[in-house]
Amino acid sequence: MIADVVVDLQYGDCGKGKVTHALCKDGDYTHVIRYNGGCNAGHTIYHDGRRVITHHIPAGVFFGIKSIIGPGCVIEPNQFFSEIKQLEEIGINARDLVFVAKNTHVITKEHLREDQADSAIGTTKRGNGPAYRAKYGRTGQRAEEVTSLKDFIIDIYEELHNNEKEVKILFEGAQGFGLDIDWGDYPYVTSSHCTTASALLNGVPPQAIRNVYGVAKMYETYVGAKSFEGNDPIFDKIREIGEEYGATTGRPRQCNWMHWDLLEKGIKVNGVSKLIINKVDVLEDVGSWAIYADESKQTFDSTQQMKAWILDRISTEDISVTFSGKKDGI
Ligand code: IMP
Ligand code: MG
Repeated sequence: MIADVVVDLQYGDCGKGKVTHALCKDGDYTHVIRYNGGCNAGHTIYHDGRRVITHHIPAGVFFGIKSIIGPGCVIEPNQFFSEIKQLEEIGINARDLVFVAKNTHVITKEHLREDQADSAIGTTKRGNGPAYRAKYGRTGQRAEEVTSLKDFIIDIYEELHNNEKEVKILFEGAQGFGLDIDWGDYPYVTSSHCTTASALLNGVPPQAIRNVYGVAKMYETYVGAKSFEGNDPIFDKIREIGEEYGATTGRPRQCNWMHWDLLEKGIKVNGVSKLIINKVDVLEDVGSWAIYADESKQTFDSTQQMKAWILDRISTEDISVTFSGKKDGI
């Protein structure tokens, strides 16, 4: 068994969808598995010239690869079925490709109602926190108990460990390291684990891990209740040029410069072997560059200078680094 993991190193929205899409296109994966989160995630994917946003369903579905919502996730059946329908409408055979692990927990109407009332955290109001609370409180409901999901249910152990073929998995994470329940700025976090370790909780042994693709952006964005944005009109410019508005809620994302501490921690804790830093062209268009590091703000005169600073801080013998623009591949 071989598994690659895609993990976001900041606050989500760093372009995991793009990376997953590129890996599915070039790789020979047998399975793509979403390993955490629910429909709070919004993955924007450009497929055959169309912009498609999925919340639950992994990107493997665009390439005819078996796509599983793993037991580390929580699932809202109505949202799930509306995505199946949306995919079928653009000619994707989602019904034959998408599966839900039988032990995945369910986001109920009560969970949605409760989360709608949140104002303290600034959640996506998709019922994520209440569903995980029910799971860990042992009062939750599992996908196998939901009649409408019957045709999609699989036993992920059987699927991965008793498969006739050699299994090659791409794990697609949701949210990001800065939103992780343990590593993020609690309580301004999501209710799941967003790390490489979290992927393993879906039934795969650690020895199976081959590459860990850590995805970051050249600057940071965050959506939620805490005050995050730096006090400088430059961040309005970054938001406009970077099109930083939530894929799930449409909320404007608060913007700030890269915090080196967070990125470095994320690289180490997640065991990143391939680092992808996206949206390099946004700062180029804005014409300003900075990083918070060593308790001060480092400024740069060009993309080249900022890249050189980053490369100097990373042990590039162990980690390959790719800088990518909005329209570039990886
Ligand atoms: P929840 O996950 O909906 O409970 O929201 C908790 C926090 O995580 C809030 O600050 C959300 O804006 C943030 N969040 C959740 N999912 C995403 C995502 O996919 N991208 C960016 N932020 C997210
Ligand atoms: Mg997103």
